[in-house]
Amino acid sequence: MTMRKILAANFKTNHTRASTRAYVKALDEGMGAMGYEEEVYLFPPATALDRFETANDIRVGAQNAYPTVKGSFTGEIGLEQLEEFGIETVLLGHSERRHLLGESQSFIANKFAWFKERDFRIIYCIGEPLEVREEGDEAVRRYLVEQFEGIDTSYEKLILAYEPVWAIGTGKTATPELIETTHAQIKQLSDAPLLYGGSVKPANIADILAVPGCDGALIGTASWEVESMLSMLSQVKGQK
Ligand code: 13P
Repeated sequence: MTMRKILAANFKTNHTRASTRAYVKALDEGMGAMGYEEEVYLFPPATALDRFETANDIRVGAQNAYPTVKGSFTGEIGLEQLEEFGIETVLLGHSERRHLLGESQSFIANKFAWFKERDFRIIYCIGEPLEVREEGDEAVRRYLVEQFEGIDTSYEKLILAYEPVWAIGTGKTATPELIETTHAQIKQLSDAPLLYGGSVKPANIADILAVPGCDGALIGTASWEVESMLSMLSQVKGQK
């Protein structure tokens, strides 16, 4: 299957409501100017979620949501809050939620099933910490298999993101060889499009997306400045 590359920007805990609005406007204009025709996913913080009118295919998603329509879950947002803005995409399993916020595999799998039931597009993140990587490919494979526990890997609206924990926000990008090997392992477990994430930036995105089995990128730090995001889009434009 040939398809265009998929790029996604994860703002994490960066940007305000006002700066997100300015970013989306600049991104939309930049995409128009370069004739970028593919969809781009954007995950702003929850306070900046909104219904954005854009000429290009910018799909705003939630970085996290609770598996409920509404209710008593202090600090969380549910379906009612997402539907207000027509949000149909959710990021699940991000390593920061797994490791910093303590989300367990079974809780993540519950969320996955709940949002799948409601027909959401799900970008599902997996990735091993450094100590597992140091044990070698087989240990990594076992770790990744566990991160698929309870997950419907054949869900048609699933996009996977392989993000090695040791490469996130550290400037340490995985080598193309390592990405190729690991993506091949993951592709044995699911046919879903598979993004790479972890210190992707304008200077390395072309090499990363040239890796066989890499269908796009999930970008944190280097997506936060719109010029940097546009530079990456321009390098990827039209690439299969
Ligand atoms: P960085 O691009 O900052 O390494 O973050 C990657 C990431 O976690 C995207 O979800």
